[in-house]
Amino acid sequence: MLPAYLPNPVAALAGGGTPLDLGRNFSDGRRVFGDGKTFRGLIVGILSGIGIGLLQMWLSGLYGWESIPEHTLTSIILLSTGALLGDLCKSFFKRRFNKERGSKWPIADQYDLVAGAFILVLLFDPAWFFANVTLPAFIIILILTPVLHRAVNILGYHLRVKEVPW
Ligand code: CTP
Ligand code: MG
Repeated sequence: MLPAYLPNPVAALAGGGTPLDLGRNFSDGRRVFGDGKTFRGLIVGILSGIGIGLLQMWLSGLYGWESIPEHTLTSIILLSTGALLGDLCKSFFKRRFNKERGSKWPIADQYDLVAGAFILVLLFDPAWFFANVTLPAFIIILILTPVLHRAVNILGYHLRVKEVPW
């Protein structure tokens, strides 16, 4: 899951600059995505996920690890891109529900990246999905994701990378 987990914190570190919606509003008069979704965050975030995935592939080849899921270039691209597209989608709906940038939206804030990553993998590489995301793996991911999300965001808040601890 590292290629899906890394893009969000890296986007928070590297993000800023031109927003993806170019500051434009949707038909309801509110921002399409908001200032929290930027080109730099998206691009650097996705590249970081691909980078960690390549590192995993290299390490597993080096040590012959067979117990960890076998990543491919396709799987790491889909997981990292899906994670940030899920985050982007969530922000789109957050704005439609009139929630301010950075406001809390329980469940959606935690699982957006998992949903986005898994939907993309299911659409473009279903064989990889069913070979690697077994039921026990899926349950562990469901439990681990909100715990990691909260821990990393509290850390980001104290390091002044994030304005809010969620
Ligand atoms: N970020 C970015 N580009 C992205 C995703 C995130 O630049 N595609 C950066 C922004 O600086 C953002 C920070 O990472 O403020 C934290 O991301 P997130 O919590 O997802 O955004 P929020 O500011 O909380 O906005 P939203 O309410 O839309 O979730
Ligand atoms: Mg947020």
